[in-house]
Order: sequence, then C-alpha cells, then structure tokens
Amino acid sequence: MNRITTTTDVAIVGAGPAGLMLAHLLQRAGIASVAIDVRARGEIENTHRAGILEQDSVRLLTESGVSDRVLRDGYRHAGIDLAFGGGGHRVDLETLVGATVQLYPQTDVFIDLADARARDGGDVRFGVSEVSVADLTADRPLMRFTDAAGVRHEVAARILVGSDGSRSICRHEFPDATRRQFFREYPFAWFGILCEAPPSSEELIYSHSERGFALISQRTDTLQRMYFQCDPTEDVADWSDDRIWAELQARVGANGYVLKEGSIISKTVLPFRSFVQEPMRHGNLVLAGDAAHTVPPTGAKGLNLALADVRVLAEELELHLRGEEVALDRYAERALRRVWKAQHFSYWMTTMLHRLPDASDFDVRRQVGELTSVVSSAAGSTYLAEGYTGWPS
Ligand code: PHB
Repeated sequence: MNRITTTTDVAIVGAGPAGLMLAHLLQRAGIASVAIDVRARGEIENTHRAGILEQDSVRLLTESGVSDRVLRDGYRHAGIDLAFGGGGHRVDLETLVGATVQLYPQTDVFIDLADARARDGGDVRFGVSEVSVADLTADRPLMRFTDAAGVRHEVAARILVGSDGSRSICRHEFPDATRRQFFREYPFAWFGILCEAPPSSEELIYSHSERGFALISQRTDTLQRMYFQCDPTEDVADWSDDRIWAELQARVGANGYVLKEGSIISKTVLPFRSFVQEPMRHGNLVLAGDAAHTVPPTGAKGLNLALADVRVLAEELELHLRGEEVALDRYAERALRRVWKAQHFSYWMTTMLHRLPDASDFDVRRQVGELTSVVSSAAGSTYLAEGYTGWPS
C-alpha cells in the first residue's frame, strides 16, 4: 500500500492544547513539527473543559504571541470563595501571593492555538485515523496515520511526542518493564452544566456542604458553568432542569448563597481520577499533558499542567536536538516534580471539599475544621493561593 513519506524534527501525536502549544513554541525556536489528531477540529472545539488559567499559563499564551483574546475576553479573578459551615470565606489570591488567575475556557485556548498554527503555516492534521508509532528507540522514530482524505502517511522524526490525551495510545508503547502507573479512583464524579443566566457571583464559589460539593463558575455575562458532586454512574437523563436547580440551590444555600437560574443548555457527567505514568520518556518518545497524567478537576490544574509540561519540553527539546543527550531525561524529571505537586494539590482540594459516600458526621465536621484552618491562617490560605495561581517552574 502506498504511503507518503516525509521527515520532520518532531512528530506530535495529539493536537489538543498541549500538542499545539508545543508546535508553536518549537516553530519559534526554528524546529519543524507535524501534529496530528484523530478528532476533527470542530469536535475538540465543542468539548467543554475547565476554565481557569494560572498566571504563567496566561503569560505563555500572551508572550509567545498566541492570544491577546485571553486578556480581552477573559476575566481576571483576584480571589476565590470557599463556602462552608454556613457562610462564604474569600481567599484573596492577589493579596496573599501577588498573583491572579484568568477565567478563560480551555476551548478558547484551543481555538487560539489552532488559529495561530493556521496563521503561521504549521502542519497540523485533524480527523486522521489508523495512528501508530514505531521504532521508538531508533534514530528516526516513525509516526504513521491515514489523513482525512484516506491517504496514508509515514513521518520520520527525530523525536516523537505523545500529547494524545487521557486515552493516549503513545503511553501504551512504553514496555511494561520500563513504566509504572499510579492511580487513584474516587467514588464520585461531577455533574456539569452550562446555563443561560447572569453570573451568580463575581468569583468562583467552591462550596462544601452535607449534601456534597458544588462549584459555581462562570463563562460570560450571559453564560454560566456550574458543577455538583454526583455518583459516577449518574445518568443525565434522570436530571430535569428543575431537579438540577433544586440540588445546586440546596448545596450553596446551606452557605447562604442564592443562584440566578436560567435554561440549561448542556449536561454532562465528568469522570474523576488521578493518574500518573512514569517515566515520561522512553527512547525517542516523550509524553506531555493528559497522556502522562490526569488530575481530578477540583482546582482546574489539568490544562495548566499540560501547558507547563510543553513549556519545559520545548526548552529541553531544543537542547536535545542540538546534541545535549540528557535534556530529554531532564524534561521528564522537571515535569514530574510539578506533576506530583499538582497531584497533591488537586487531591487535597478534592478530599477537603467532597463528601465521601460513607462519610460520618465526624468526617464532615473534620472537613469544616480543615477549611476553617485554611481560611483563618495566613500560612494555610497562602499555601492554597500559591497552588491555585500556580507554582513558578
Ligand atoms: C470551570 O470553570 O470549568 C472550572 C473552574 C474551576 C475548577 C474547575 C472547573 O476548579
């Protein structure tokens, strides 16, 4: 069967935010790449994900010339609200650590990145199929795929990058003897909605209650994003708009808030787990973003971690391609240090705010004690603010 054979410096499997950001940074350093994705561009644009960008993620997008929209259309948040024990407690991120976050949805980050690749003439193929990688420990590892028109391709690269998300095929290419996988499952999920309503609050509300966790986030002046903790097997078909509003109101009402309601235009149950694969390098294949690690969504670390990975990866790849052999291992080590900090932060936020199915009254009161410790101590709230706005790399 005929194949079109090409060569490039870096072949990137997965053209979500991590893969596209990497391609963009590499191009700025004069390094060629080809990025592919099995999803069509429209499909990625319509996947709703988290919406909070750390300060350094915003800086990466603006300073590398991807987006000024993130500042224009996004919303700067200088604090978050932790709601528990009957009331709200504002954590003032800016005062505590001199940093803020930006509310700007992942779908918009993706659109900006895809537009930047198109503008700069980047080679990105969406909607491909039959993706495989081969010869991972050879000098010229291969990425194979069939493009959207049915033409088969083989790309010979110097390095392969697996940024192909939580259902990565690349991470399975690591021989069993060389890799370790670390998991944590949670006995709950998030029920996420998008609704047409005015904002109920200027900042995000992370709400603990006896009925379980709820998060009140926003998108625009007319569109809001909210979540409530649910059973992982929950079926969205069982949830009418009225039932959803009653549940959300009950959870935040326990802490003195009232939500502005509106028609619900999207309902999804979001999976919830913690996962890391180590190491993040095998031969000439490296992993980045969700392909190597997943965090639960509490604290919105997923996209930020993926962007932090590729910022470091672009730097180290440049050195590697210039002949510095140890650079790829250094990438894996530098990335994993941050990954495990974020794993802990996401786990901590999750377990502090969610109700376990078998929680006793003691457990719920203890969580309130923990939350009180965080908001009433400069050390506690500074720790939260540092993690939330993102650690320096
Ligand atoms: C969101 O707006 O989708 C969002 C915000 C903060 C989180 C998670 C999700 O911690």
